[in-house]
Amino acid sequence: MAVIKCDNNIFVLETKNTHYVLGVDKYGYNHHLYWGKKCDIKDYSMESIGDENSNHTMLDEFKQEYTVFGSTVYRECALKAEFSDKCREINLRYEGHTIEGSRLTLQFSDKHYPLQIMLNYEVDDSCDIITRWTSLKNTGNSMIDAEKLFSAEFCLPSKKPYIFKNTNGAWGGEFMQTSNLLDGGSLVFESRKGTSGHTNSPYFIAHQNADEKRGDVYFASLIYSGNFKVSASRDLYSITRVIIGMNDFDFSYSLQPGETFDTPKVLCGHTQGFGEMSRQMNRFVVNHIMPKQFNDKVLPVLYNSWEATFFDVNCENQTHLAELAAQIGVELFVMDDGWFGKRNNDCAGLGDWFVNKDKFPNGLDELIDHVNALGMDFGIWVEPEMVNADSDLFRAHPDWAYHYETRDASELRHQLVLNMTRDDVSQYIFHVLDTLLTKHNIKYIKWDMNRPFSETGAQNLDNPKMLYYLHTMAVYNIVDRLKKKHPQVAIESCSSGGGRADLGALSHFDQVWTSDNTDAVDRMTIQNGYTMLRPVKAMRAWVTDIGWISKPASLDFRFNIAMQGSLGVGGNLSNYSQEELEICKKNVALYKQIRELVQFGDLYRIMDVDEGEILFNNYVSPDKTRAVAFIASAGTRFFKKRVDFLFDGLDDRKRYSLTVQGRKYEKSGSYLKNVGIPLHIRGAYYNEVVMIDEI
Ligand code: DGJ
Repeated sequence: MAVIKCDNNIFVLETKNTHYVLGVDKYGYNHHLYWGKKCDIKDYSMESIGDENSNHTMLDEFKQEYTVFGSTVYRECALKAEFSDKCREINLRYEGHTIEGSRLTLQFSDKHYPLQIMLNYEVDDSCDIITRWTSLKNTGNSMIDAEKLFSAEFCLPSKKPYIFKNTNGAWGGEFMQTSNLLDGGSLVFESRKGTSGHTNSPYFIAHQNADEKRGDVYFASLIYSGNFKVSASRDLYSITRVIIGMNDFDFSYSLQPGETFDTPKVLCGHTQGFGEMSRQMNRFVVNHIMPKQFNDKVLPVLYNSWEATFFDVNCENQTHLAELAAQIGVELFVMDDGWFGKRNNDCAGLGDWFVNKDKFPNGLDELIDHVNALGMDFGIWVEPEMVNADSDLFRAHPDWAYHYETRDASELRHQLVLNMTRDDVSQYIFHVLDTLLTKHNIKYIKWDMNRPFSETGAQNLDNPKMLYYLHTMAVYNIVDRLKKKHPQVAIESCSSGGGRADLGALSHFDQVWTSDNTDAVDRMTIQNGYTMLRPVKAMRAWVTDIGWISKPASLDFRFNIAMQGSLGVGGNLSNYSQEELEICKKNVALYKQIRELVQFGDLYRIMDVDEGEILFNNYVSPDKTRAVAFIASAGTRFFKKRVDFLFDGLDDRKRYSLTVQGRKYEKSGSYLKNVGIPLHIRGAYYNEVVMIDEI
């Protein structure tokens, strides 16, 4: 049973390996009681709140499931709201609970004001993941203004300090992992840019010296693409708390009379080791969060023309690239930026989603038909949320971009952000994209978004501070409507690389662009960080001509790295020799043999390039009958080295065959795990793809 109600209003959420325990005391306060390995259920009891002390109040010190602002609570709260008479305090009374299948809802209401709060939990007892969110209902006749409205709050069990893993990335350096010890005070990971961005990630991973295989790991990831905030703190009683949800920066939400608002959901869990965390989340997100059309289908090998032709696209050069792409086995040809309006560089054209007749005198279909005749699907790039000042759209509707009449609007990449919270704007965007998909045989859209928000004036809104949330919902809404009307079309979320690669995006889009940095060596680090709490299948990775320092790695090496997600090719194939095209063809064929393992298998991160110069990842089929291991090193120093490669994730009792460095082995899973296979790693760009099959 996933949700167990005990005496004294104690509730146990039972996952495969863990208990998450909460309760409500006789005063109506919600309590967090425990999160971790399973214990005997009858032992759980309600903790007393503690002694009052004039400087450290009892209400401030106990562990809560959800802290509301008011009274003598001074710590970071999850909810703060103002009522119509300007009272800014919330005082909750417990009203009861419901258990429906695997879902628990605790219901509270304010003692005086017409506000209900529901704490929601959904348990999946086939794994250790719990889904949490909070609902707010205005049961009165006047508006309630919430200025902090977080999805969930967590209290971590140990009194010792935790290390928080997150990312501190940038354009071209997404998902760079960080570790911060939280001894006292607070740690904040957030985005204020309008989308989740390239810098911090909308999650927390808390541990005390855990590693890939061992140690208690607590994590939660927000399903939302707008401004987010994760705020962790450790108080003088050594309690570590975390709140996670929509950022309260420049935020408020006006809850109308009668309205119920559900916060974005959070997936949380407790595992032993980071590896198990990533594998559980990978499976859960693919099976339950990602859109249904393509979540269980292998993704096609794509070619993207961006790095080959940049804005200089035309029917002739795209046709030529398509012919070469078909030769090497590509299944989907994607034409990137530059095909529309007066788009010859990034200064003009965004908003004018009509084919550029100088570049495509006979329209798009000439190219699309050719691509289809070559046996490939056709995909196209758009950036719907944006407009260049130099565009027909902006000339016709200068008021469609976020702006204040009294302020200059900052142009980044010469573009402005469209006010997607306006009905006319979102209708227009839907209409142009719908028309594009209706008129042409397009199977794929790369939806880009290349600048953060600024000067966020929105005169159409009574409460403009709702705009970040409403903008995010408008994007989701258009994507959902397009998918409903054109179910054959897959949509990728791109934002100057991986600037919107969060679980919110992945609950609407089918895949994400990981980074504009396609250098294979840098990608080892970027992709490693990505796989912590994001699904491997959705990670687009291209083989291009970008080189670390100056020269690209060998083609085999570049393929080795890009094959560890959903493979794409983005180099300028026109410059490739026949021999190079053959290498591409061989690797694309190899990827087609193993992609099911990569996209649906369990990833075991055995060696991490940043720690040992060598990357060693093993992707294992769910039934452990097959695996593929990728070994890569850009170059080893100090005459390195003979290494015993200890495989992980295989079945100890099964016997496997594999060929490593030209030598065939037949070994048991336990031998491969404990004794391993010796390997000599020498020279630049060493790489090997090892297929492992049960005998
Ligand atoms: C940013 C994306 O990340 C690139 O892949 C490319 O699509 C450019 N935008 C096009 O302007």
